[in-house]
Amino acid sequence: MMKESLVKAYSTQANAEWYSAYLYLAMCSHADSLGLKGFANWLYVQYQEEMAHGNHMYQYIAERGEKAIFSAIEKPEKVEWASLTEMFEQVLEHEQKVTGLINDIATLSKNENDHASYNFIQWYVDEQVEEESSADEILSTLKFVKEDPVAVYNMDKEFQARVFVDPFANAK
Ligand SMILES: [Fe+2]
Ligand SMILES: [Fe+2]
Repeated sequence: MMKESLVKAYSTQANAEWYSAYLYLAMCSHADSLGLKGFANWLYVQYQEEMAHGNHMYQYIAERGEKAIFSAIEKPEKVEWASLTEMFEQVLEHEQKVTGLINDIATLSKNENDHASYNFIQWYVDEQVEEESSADEILSTLKFVKEDPVAVYNMDKEFQARVFVDPFANAK
């Protein structure tokens, strides 16, 4: 059993995670259209991670014996970016926004005295530190090299190696 306020909050967050997935898929498709296979791969892995987050939250609600609330997933606010720097500025901004949402859920879980939910959301608190840090690192590099084609080519090569690892594989 979960309090109604928490069912709502976790359902909204699952939706926000699926929206994040959608946004990264739009970015992936943009990178693909530029022929940047590595950036596209990095963003596709990001998409897969966000899908896993949404699914994980949905499963948590079900595990607590509740029914998730379904609402429409917004379309990505943008599908074109003027530069990679602009795109990664949005990645960082978006992750900062998500961190705020996760923190609010942690506060709500605590205020509602739901220790299981408070414990559950801590994984996401840590995850957001990593998310912001990796977005910030890529953005800083892009700014530092001023999107020099050779540097971007090398980054693109490096990003081809990123593979999706299901963070909840052991929990299933
Ligand atoms: Fe996420
Ligand atoms: Fe994320």
